[in-house]
Amino acid sequence: MTAILVLHGPNLNLLGAREPGVYGRMTLPEVDAAVIRHAEARGVRVECRQSNHEGVLVDHLQQASAQGFAGVVLNPGAYGHYSYTLRDAIAGQSLPVVEVHLSNVHAREPFRHRSVLAAVCRGQIAGFGLDSYLLGVDAVLACIARR
Ligand code: DQA
Repeated sequence: MTAILVLHGPNLNLLGAREPGVYGRMTLPEVDAAVIRHAEARGVRVECRQSNHEGVLVDHLQQASAQGFAGVVLNPGAYGHYSYTLRDAIAGQSLPVVEVHLSNVHAREPFRHRSVLAAVCRGQIAGFGLDSYLLGVDAVLACIARR
């Protein structure tokens, strides 16, 4: 069975309570459950992980292929705007990675308009709330199917 890793970066553990006007009222476990259901309906297994720590996210990216995942959906949180460390981790591995954001980062503060990851990801999906993750899963599956 195809397996996809969904990786959430810093502060996303606070979903539901954190700036609900921007990020909505769904908690991270609720997001994860919806993503898992979406993938299951496509015959795909999803594992969701969250970390507030850059190095832990790097470890997950480095190990994803050896752990049997065929692709990664990554919400890097604010790291997406400045982490060359995450960029190198994505570039240094072979799986398709799709960057997702709940909010439309391009309609927010200027520092959020820039992603240092997008160029080494297969693409970026932003602004659709939970659907950003669901579309991210479908995008990763499309990448896998075309391999
Ligand atoms: C976010 C957008 C980032 O700018 C922010 O730092 C986050 C969440 C999003 O999902 O919209 O933590 O990645």
